[in-house]
This record gives sequence, C-alpha cells and structure tokens, in this order.
Amino acid sequence: MVLMDMEAEERVRRDDRAHVFHSWSAQSKINPMPVAGGEGCEFFDFEGKRYLDFASQLVYTNLGHQHPKVVAAIKEQADRLCVIQPSFANERSSELARMLAELAPGDLNMAFFTNGGAEANENAIRLAREATGRHKILSAYRSYHGATHGAIALTGEPRRWASEPAISGVVHFMGPYTYRSSFHSENEEQERDRALAHLEEVVMYEGPQTVAGIILEVIVGTNGILVPPDGYLQGVRELCDRHGIVMILDEVMTGFGRTGYWFGSAGFGVEPDLISCAKGLTSGYVPLGAVLISQKIADKFQDKVYYGGLTYSGHPLACAAGIGAINAMKEEKVVENAKMIGDDVLGPGLRELQKKHKSIGDVRGRGCFWGVELVKNRETREMLVPFNAAGPAMGPVAQMTGEAMNRGVSLMAHWNVIICAPPLIITPDEVKRALSVLDEVLEIADKAAD
Ligand SMILES: Cc1ncc(COP(=O)(O)O)c(C=O)c1O
Repeated sequence: MVLMDMEAEERVRRDDRAHVFHSWSAQSKINPMPVAGGEGCEFFDFEGKRYLDFASQLVYTNLGHQHPKVVAAIKEQADRLCVIQPSFANERSSELARMLAELAPGDLNMAFFTNGGAEANENAIRLAREATGRHKILSAYRSYHGATHGAIALTGEPRRWASEPAISGVVHFMGPYTYRSSFHSENEEQERDRALAHLEEVVMYEGPQTVAGIILEVIVGTNGILVPPDGYLQGVRELCDRHGIVMILDEVMTGFGRTGYWFGSAGFGVEPDLISCAKGLTSGYVPLGAVLISQKIADKFQDKVYYGGLTYSGHPLACAAGIGAINAMKEEKVVENAKMIGDDVLGPGLRELQKKHKSIGDVRGRGCFWGVELVKNRETREMLVPFNAAGPAMGPVAQMTGEAMNRGVSLMAHWNVIICAPPLIITPDEVKRALSVLDEVLEIADKAAD
C-alpha cells in the first residue's frame, strides 16, 4: 500500500493524461482521479483519503476490493498454469462451468466463456441466430448491452448512435417503465399487459419466423434501474415459446448476487434459454464473461459446428478468479447479505429519503441494486436533468456526485437517476454512512427542483 506518495500520484496523472485514451470521453475534458488502492468497500487516493464505493466501480466489485480468497485463488493458479488455449480442457474452466450449471436457473448446463459482457452478448445473439436459422434480434430501448459492434447495436440508448450503422437485423421495442410509461399505464399490471401487447405486436409486424431472439436486461441497469412488473418476464417467456424465439437475459449487472439472488432471473421465477454474464462473476478481478446455454440450445450444436470463438475462452487465470469469487460468496453468505441490505437497510433508507426530499420522484430496486430518480417537480415528473444530459447539462446532479465525493462517498449517476449499487459485502453501518451523505447532497437537488 503506497500512501502519501505524491510523486507517484503526479507520475500517474502525467502518464495517464499523455498516453491513456479513456472510454466514452472527450479526452481534453476529463481529469481522472489517480487511485492508489482499495480494500473492502473502499478505495483510496495517494493522500490516503478513502472513498466508500457506492457503485461497486461499474457495478462489478460484488466482493469489494482485494478479497483475500479471490486474490489467493488467482495467485495459486498463476503459479500452476496462467493460460492454455481453448481447444484443450482445463481444470479451472471445467470446474467453473460445472459450478455455473449448478447455480443457474433451469437446465442452463453449458457455459461458453468470453472476456467480458459485450462479448457474452455477441455470442448469445450468434448462438440464437445459428440455433434458429433466423436473423432478427429484438432488444429494448433504455438498455445497455456493451460496446462491441453487435452489442452496441442491441443497446437502446444514445451510446449506440455514433456506431451506426451497426449490425443489421436488430429491432428495438419499448420495455416496461411504470413511472414513465410509454403506454399511459397507471399501475404495474397495466404496464405489464400493455408492454407485453406492444412486444407481441412488434413480433407480429417483424414476422415471428424471422426473429431469432429477444434480449432483455432482467432489471435495466445503467438506464435507470428499471424493475419489470411481476409477470412481464414470464409473458416474454411465453411469447418466445409460442414463436420458437430464443429468450436471452442479460445478467451482466444482475448476476452473482446483485439483486439478492444468484441470478436476477431467479427472483422473477423465469428460466431463459441463454444468460449472458460477466462483472460479478469474478468481482471484476480478472476480466471474464460467459454465456450460459440451455440444454435445448446446446443440443443444436452436437453435430453442427458453432461458428464462434475467442483466443482466451476459458482462460484458467480468469476462471480461477471466478471459482474463488463464487466460493467466497457461498462461504460468507454474501448473496443473503445483499438481500438483507436491500430489504432491511438500503430500500427502507432510500424510501425515508424520498419522504424528506421533494426532488426524489421514484425509488426502485432490489438487493444491492437501487435507483433514485430525481425530478424537478413531483406532479409533472419533469426530469431534474434532461434525457442524454452530459457535461454542464448534468448541473445539479454533477454537483451532487462531486459533493458526495468530497465527503468520501463515490456515487454513480445516469442523467437524472442516482444508482446505488454497493458491494454485496457492505454492512448496515456503511450503508447508513452513504445514506447520510446522500441526504446531505440531496439538498442540492431540492434547491434545483420547483
Ligand atoms: C447490462 C450490461 N450488459 C453488458 C455490458 C457490457 O459489459 P462489458 O463492459 O464487460 O463488455 C454492461 C456493462 O456495463 C451491462 O451493464
């Protein structure tokens, strides 16, 4: 641990600015904060100032930083075998694939390993296309599925625009969002029924015989933590069954305990044909993703070749991190903790804040996955900052996250939604600390509201 090493900080900052090309940024407009290290739910800078990570980085450090069991699993595997190419079987990928089959819902018995979430989605849509012989994929607006060419085509929000025309055959539809219903619904039941009727109509007009797959985030993540109404995902399942369409659930964020279940889909009692996952699979310690494949889809490739592959598929070091992470989560009852935090501390705490702060329009989530939607006016529900806000347009929300950072809490915001997604190992006291800072900085939002 290097603390108060201002020379190191200066060097990191200088080399970063000169040579690191950052994601999703105009390079001259950013000033990335040098981070010296992390421990548990916190990370710290070179002056030793600690920040409670209320976003789990990009919603992936489910076990927090430097979990000793995951670090040990990586070290042990590094000493034995760092890498072997994917046409060989290896101890770690076979063990992890078996563990995933045991944890996944239904008969998702096979795993195809990737390097991350976007590649998991690329391969999920390729599997759906090759299994059905059809080409179209239906995907929701207000979704993020990754930044490779196919995954960004699936993505239903402005991050896609610069990559267009991306892959062909992707059709977008509106998913459920009761608070801002596209269907003028007044309650969850109406929203469920109307969103399903809309999807059915899209399928009909596209021609069901042309549709290979429908992909959905279980709970929409960066686009606002949108929890589907009860029965919506089952309705999509039925629609897929009726038309021979592959149901793909993107569990890149919702997987590995995030919602208080090993897989978010289990919390809704739905069994998809394919699950894409990444992030929490290794808590991000080594990049790894996977597509979990139902027996029915896997059987299509018993005699037929699957035309897809990656140099590092089944990478032993990454799979060792996955095994270490899953074992640590089981031994320390981390998924149970995530559920308890959501049910007893974070959910109720955010609802209390909603009573007190007029700028909070809606609070929604499960487990350690919550969204606080900020509005200018509760009656009109006008967003506190507009659709696709960035830079100066983020105004009060940027001020809030900046001020929270000054007070030692790292918050994530997407336009007018504050995303609260702490590591699943977080304690009630740590949650209360973050809630009290959130309470303070919400004054900024209240002042900007009517
Ligand atoms: C729901 C979802 N799917 C896919 C991805 C892409 O994953 P990756 O960045 O590992 O490619 C993300 C990343 O945030 C995500 O949130």
